Amino acid sequence: MAEKPIYKDPQQAIEERVKDLLLRMTIAEKVGQMTQIERSVVTLDAMKNQFIGSILNAGGSTPRSGASAEEWADMVDGFQRWALESRLSIPVLYGTDAVHGHNNCYGATIFPHNIGLGATRDPNLVQKIGEATAIEVRATGIPYTFAPCVAVSRDPRWGRCYESYSEDTETVRKMTTIVQGLQGSPPQSHPKGYPFLASRKNVIACMKHFIGDGGTKGGINEGNTVGSFDELHSVHLKPFLDCLDQGVCTAMASYSSWNSMMLHSHHFLLTQVLKHQLGFKGFVISDWEGIDRLCQPQGSDYRFCISASINAGIDMVMVPHDFQKFIGDLTFLVESGEISMTRIDDAVERILRVKFVGGLFEHPFTDRSLLNLVGCKMHRELAREAVRKSLVLLKNGKNPNKPFLPLSKNGGRILVGGEHAHNLGYQCGGWTITWYGIGGQITQGTTILEAIKAAVGMNTAVIYEENPTETSFKTQEFSSAIVVVGEKPYAEFLGDDPKLELSPKAIETIELVCSKVPTLVILLSGRPLIVEPLIEKMEAFVAAWLPGSEGAGVADVIFGGYEFHGCLPRTWFKRVDQLPMNVGDSNYDPLFPFGFGLKMNLKNQ
Ligand code: GLC
Repeated sequence: MAEKPIYKDPQQAIEERVKDLLLRMTIAEKVGQMTQIERSVVTLDAMKNQFIGSILNAGGSTPRSGASAEEWADMVDGFQRWALESRLSIPVLYGTDAVHGHNNCYGATIFPHNIGLGATRDPNLVQKIGEATAIEVRATGIPYTFAPCVAVSRDPRWGRCYESYSEDTETVRKMTTIVQGLQGSPPQSHPKGYPFLASRKNVIACMKHFIGDGGTKGGINEGNTVGSFDELHSVHLKPFLDCLDQGVCTAMASYSSWNSMMLHSHHFLLTQVLKHQLGFKGFVISDWEGIDRLCQPQGSDYRFCISASINAGIDMVMVPHDFQKFIGDLTFLVESGEISMTRIDDAVERILRVKFVGGLFEHPFTDRSLLNLVGCKMHRELAREAVRKSLVLLKNGKNPNKPFLPLSKNGGRILVGGEHAHNLGYQCGGWTITWYGIGGQITQGTTILEAIKAAVGMNTAVIYEENPTETSFKTQEFSSAIVVVGEKPYAEFLGDDPKLELSPKAIETIELVCSKVPTLVILLSGRPLIVEPLIEKMEAFVAAWLPGSEGAGVADVIFGGYEFHGCLPRTWFKRVDQLPMNVGDSNYDPLFPFGFGLKMNLKNQ
């Protein structure tokens, strides 16, 4: 019987398997491993004969609208079968953006976005969220997520502010426990910088976006972070060090620039710092068409883009569509010597290492015993706990001696209004079912209105009017009101906002309802917004961030089932002309300071 090749023998050391496989590979097979393509352009030929190493789905790109977990698993396993038909049967690595639960998958548990998790200041909770997310992602056959985003967002005008746990580096560092949740916890003896994965219930993580995406001037997405290396290190690098300490398997380069040099071609930061100084042994992936941005018009000199990025230290390129051109140009650059075979071998070695560590060679297909855990009760209860702990109480009673919260469940007529009271899509925000998020009943979950109705007693009336008018108050009496307003979903550059104002409709609803009846205002947003002019009208004010599918967590707290726990993960400014303004700044004049959060003092009730 022919000797089993070393790379196919799980008894062999991973580094021996990597070396053995690399020696067997042709240039075409190596170039294919460095290529990541979108699921919509995958073919048998691409997988079998062009050796594509990785596939992703764009935000919102799904097997079909409302696809079940099983349909996801069938799709991913189908791609894997094609990949294993290739000459060396190297398994393909499928990745997705599971950034607050398995948010592309209908019916999956949707956790609060990172800004809300930052408000919890609870590393253990965040680790458990990572564990639950990993299981739901694995249940659909996917072994890789482009998370966590460990950006330290220094300006709320940035469209990705909600993807950042906090403006404060130390707070972001605390939340990097999500890497252990996603990948599992490495033993003390685990070599620093070496990728780690515990089991088939864990997923390969991706620390992103390296580095400084949250520090761009004016919060401009994909903009320019200016400052010394010491400043870059003290504000933005430390959370990446914590991810490395946890054995993070991959890193994603940032679209942004540092001192006007784009990260996607930054040899000093990608190779000298991340790989050589910090000893990172996983692989660096580009962002979506990230290398194309290295020349203007975008992608016009594609060979230059490839040469500059790969030579800087990018190992895998998220092409993601025209992979024939990428493969052709990269092959030309290798054969011409503009990209050395040493560089190619380093990139492929890193990719293979992650695939071996990820167990893909032994377990290339879905563990379907996990399927029933997608959106399961246990995970939804965890998400509900996270919602409770993320809420920040900013005002409780026009008269501090007469707290307005907790509201009574027994008796009275509560008006519930506002665009966000009964809208699951708004509750979840961007990166949910679609890339930038949409309103409506987009998946399975509980809206805040539904939660309020379920929470109150039989003798309490809950009247819902999305847009209350003067007439609403002429024809009926209310003992109190709850107005839920906020931002509509967005992602990335679509969320860049120099004004940070509430919509006219939200302001109108707040002003009207507050003038008629004692009102709790709940804000659903990816960041602080201008509210100072309205605060005095409110009886109570709660920041709920982007809570996700389990709106019941809001009702749990406002009716006194649980005490408020959250505190501000970011400074609440008064006016945008104060920005950027972060805790520790000399010009610090906030409406509510970083770390602020009131209690209801339930025991005294
Ligand atoms: C996006 C984002 C990145 C994401 C990637 C794949 O443009 O910048 O965070 O992981 O593309 O969707």
